[in-house]
Amino acid sequence: MKVLPSRSSEVATPGPARQPATAMIEIDHVSQVFQTSARKDHLALSDISLTIEDGAFVSILGPSGCGKSTLLYIVGGFVSPTSGSAKVKGKTITAPGPDRGPVFQEFALFPWKTVLGNVMYGPRQQGVRATEAEAQSRALIEMVGLKGYENFFPKELSGGMKQRVALARTLAYHPEVLLMDEPFGALDAHTRTRLQNDLLNIWERDRKTVLFVTHSVDEAVFLSDKVVMMSRSPGRIRQVIDIDLPRPRRRTELLLDPRYQKYVVDIERMFDDIDEAGVNP
Ligand SMILES: Nc1ncnc2c1ncn2[C@@H]1O[C@H](COP(=O)(O)OP(=O)(O)OP(=O)(O)O)[C@@H](O)[C@H]1O
Ligand SMILES: [Mg+2]
Repeated sequence: MKVLPSRSSEVATPGPARQPATAMIEIDHVSQVFQTSARKDHLALSDISLTIEDGAFVSILGPSGCGKSTLLYIVGGFVSPTSGSAKVKGKTITAPGPDRGPVFQEFALFPWKTVLGNVMYGPRQQGVRATEAEAQSRALIEMVGLKGYENFFPKELSGGMKQRVALARTLAYHPEVLLMDEPFGALDAHTRTRLQNDLLNIWERDRKTVLFVTHSVDEAVFLSDKVVMMSRSPGRIRQVIDIDLPRPRRRTELLLDPRYQKYVVDIERMFDDIDEAGVNP
């Protein structure tokens, strides 16, 4: 764990001595060209370079189709970039790995396994003994607020509960990096707020590196150390905004904080500028 530059002015939580930031993810001049079914080349990402420090919470914002998911898939190792490179801890990413845990909206749970069975799956695959895997999984289930639901099947859960199980299941692998693609996008506002708070609590405890894609400006500002604003397709990085707000963050306090409000308004304006720039098919 280390203290990030964007938190440097904060004195609220005593932490360990400040260490130089180390890069967890390095995206270096990445471009992605897809071939469409009409056999045309489609430039989805154009020359993306971004370094994400160990323990940072970084959100990616940008218009629909600008390549946010593609960038996450590249870091996840599900897609290899047409040019440039993506590295995790200095090693070029060539495939998915247990160090990078995806929490994608479409990342389905095993319908035939209970909540406990779904969460235990990862540790069991990694060779953890059943009793230990069960104890770890029960603790994670409690942490995501699902104590009492261990024996429920996914079809017996609400959307928000399924999303919590997906988060617990990914955390059970102990990934160093969480890759989250609009994980709360389909949830009602209240459930979304609760899950944002839960995620921040978990993050403040573990300080995993998080790469988080969202369409919501206030979600991005509330959660992140940095917000990466992308331009319309073909996706380029338009600006990286350091969110210099103290942690731990409390939503109700932040909503009244003029610094928070300014970040949200400035980024919303940036979105408006991108929208006014028109659509590039
Ligand atoms: N497998 C594919 N084959 C061809 N084109 C693709 C493929 N995957 C994505 N694309 C194209 O790449 C571009 C970026 O897609 P991507 O899904 O990364 O966007 P996004 O920013 O995540 O959008 P949204 O906010 O709507 O989820 C889009 O123009 C899309 O049509
Ligand atoms: Mg997407």
